[in-house]
Amino acid sequence: MLQTIKKIGVLTSGGDAPGMNAAIRSVVRTCAFHDIKCYGIYRGYEGMIDGDFEEMDARSVRGIINKGGTILKSARSKGFRTKEGRQMAYEQLKKAGIDAFVVIGGDGSFTGAMIFNKEFNFPVMGIPGTIDNDIFGTTHTLGYDTALNTVVEVIDKIRDTASSHNRLFFIEVMGRDVGHIALNVGIAGGAEEILIPEEDLGLDRLVESLKRSKKSGKTSSIVVVAEGDKIGKSVFELKDYVDQNMEDYDVRVSVLGHMQRGGPPSCFDRVFASRMGVKAVESLITGKSNYMVGMKNDVIELTPFDQAVKGKSKINKELLRVSDIMSI
Ligand code: F6P
Repeated sequence: MLQTIKKIGVLTSGGDAPGMNAAIRSVVRTCAFHDIKCYGIYRGYEGMIDGDFEEMDARSVRGIINKGGTILKSARSKGFRTKEGRQMAYEQLKKAGIDAFVVIGGDGSFTGAMIFNKEFNFPVMGIPGTIDNDIFGTTHTLGYDTALNTVVEVIDKIRDTASSHNRLFFIEVMGRDVGHIALNVGIAGGAEEILIPEEDLGLDRLVESLKRSKKSGKTSSIVVVAEGDKIGKSVFELKDYVDQNMEDYDVRVSVLGHMQRGGPPSCFDRVFASRMGVKAVESLITGKSNYMVGMKNDVIELTPFDQAVKGKSKINKELLRVSDIMSI
């Protein structure tokens, strides 16, 4: 029998990502459109355990589509990983009369939602929000496009210094265990080398390649390093190695860090967030649960949570070849 959904909760969980506010706005407004009450759940699953809820209407989300971060705040909850924590969260939701929720977050947040659904038969839906693009079942995650544009802008600026001083820069970018950000910004920023966890270049080949670039007439170089890359223990170790093996190069390191997660979302992320929020709420209304909303070939589609969590998001090998050719 189809359960009638009257009140939907929405939360952001895990690392913040640009576009999360646009997704909250979309969930809230789609609820309003369908005459369903909507509750913002603050501080991710932590706030769910504490019953930190607030009723939201279409006007509560005005002026946020262009804002980075998340108005609902986010957290990585330890409590929700325990059975007791989830029990408390369930009781809080029941007390507030909330009968389904949409979680905007990464694979850890989806795992939590999936377990919760199994334990309490509670309708849940996920929207992939992370700059890493590391989730199976969608070509993009929310915030990824914005992060790419942010990083490319910074690489362009670092390039100015690299070429003015004939320097070699190692630029470390985020991405957790995957190289999507590094690979794309590396190509877009004209990097000489891109180091990603999916490909093991090795220190010697890196130095050879940099020497080759120098010989071919390049006076400065940019090497983009994904934070998950294993070629050295850290990007600073890479610098030391190159310092020792290429004495004629002045080497610098720039670790971009959390600035990659901030700032106004791109047009793509705003539209993507709006589309996914509509799909998440309308899927819950039609009785669907335990799915992640995502995009394939520009179509918004659902992927079962267990597949989204277990599957691996793969890098596009064609990009590796393009990068090799471009850095000649
Ligand atoms: O998942 C998003 C992300 O920014 C990763 O790219 C990075 O590895 C991690 O979160 C950093 O987490 P924290 O904000 O807890 O330092």
